[in-house]
Amino acid sequence: MKTILITGGAGFIGSHVVRRFVKKYPDYKIVNLDNLTYAGNLTNLLEIENEPNYEFVKADITDGELMKKLFKKYRFDGVIHLAAESHVDRSISSPMEFIFANIVGTVNLLNAARVIWEDYSGKKFYHISTDEVYGSLGTTGFFYENTAYDPRSPYSASKASSDHLVRAYYHTYGLPTVISNCSNNYGAFQFPEKLIPLAIHNIKNNILIPVYGKGANIRDWLYVEDHANAIDLIFHEGKVAETYNIGGHNEWTNIDLIRLLCKIMDRKLKRSPGTSENLITYVKDRAGHDLRYAIDSTKIQNELGWKPSLQFDEGLEKTVDWYLANEEWMKNVTSGDYQKYYDKQYTKR
Ligand code: NAD
Ligand code: TYD
Repeated sequence: MKTILITGGAGFIGSHVVRRFVKKYPDYKIVNLDNLTYAGNLTNLLEIENEPNYEFVKADITDGELMKKLFKKYRFDGVIHLAAESHVDRSISSPMEFIFANIVGTVNLLNAARVIWEDYSGKKFYHISTDEVYGSLGTTGFFYENTAYDPRSPYSASKASSDHLVRAYYHTYGLPTVISNCSNNYGAFQFPEKLIPLAIHNIKNNILIPVYGKGANIRDWLYVEDHANAIDLIFHEGKVAETYNIGGHNEWTNIDLIRLLCKIMDRKLKRSPGTSENLITYVKDRAGHDLRYAIDSTKIQNELGWKPSLQFDEGLEKTVDWYLANEEWMKNVTSGDYQKYYDKQYTKR
């Protein structure tokens, strides 16, 4: 039986990966390591929490000695590292937290693997990263695996640093690493600070929908289950030392995406057409706001046979249905200081 460490498994993408691995691979013991920040929530994992091949460990990846102890105790055969501070706006207001979690935390895991793993054969250290490390595109072109790094926010700079360190551990110590860089994910269990769940939450509760700047920035959206499927493929079949880009070929300006969401929400909530669009409010732009992200995912499609399974309108419908059916989850994660935090953020343009 192999023991796989998944970090950040109580967060959005991590919870989909943990659920998938626990259910699909009964021969693996899955250890989910997470320190449960505001973004980590164990109710994301109720479906599998009692499975015999699942264990949760509350721990902080910034504690290097603890990481070594855990590597010794569990003798992990592989690592899928997702734990991170993940929201660009928070990285602008509190950059240091991103340096500790994303850079120091990643190095602590790399070190633990380097020192505690006696034999690297059959092992894999898989680091999950973002397309934001490549910077911002103009109106044309795509990010490829060999696009030069050009991160522009504290979040993307911290993820770029961690990617560089992962590659350095391969080149210097021979640690068997692999990296993937994915575009914007959406789906169930995403914390309502990111655009899509925030807009769903606000529309449902008749709160303004803050659109940064002119709403003209473009993101390439991918359904989270498709990302989890890519992670599964890369963990099992991805080549050591390689990088794989993952994306949906699904570019939307923020304003077009929000308008589509408003239409879906009006229909689902039986409101007259146009009601939700009245909530759209243009607010002060994000500092250093990257204009456009777009991934070329030819490599993973050709080499590993991956492709996205859902059209965007289908994925968005499913996502809206999930949030409307899971009001308790939303209430739970938006209790406490949530509204106070967001009320402070916006200045109307
Ligand atoms: P998330 O914020 O929803 O979850 C992050 C998880 O990491 C949380 O459960 C949190 O408690 C945990 N965590 C944070 N700091 C920790 C620490 N010091 N020790 C232990 N656990 C800690 O993030 P997400 O959106 O699920 O993203 C997961 C990973 O995927 C991140 O590495 C992110 O950079 C990457 N990624 C995200 C996207 C996206 O669209 N969300 C796209 C590409 C890549
Ligand atoms: P976000 O979900 O924060 O992801 P990222 O910044 O990592 O791409 O934001 C997606 C896009 O939506 C981005 O261009 C910023 C914009 N945005 C808004 O216009 N309003 C909002 O309230 C948020 C959270 C984001």
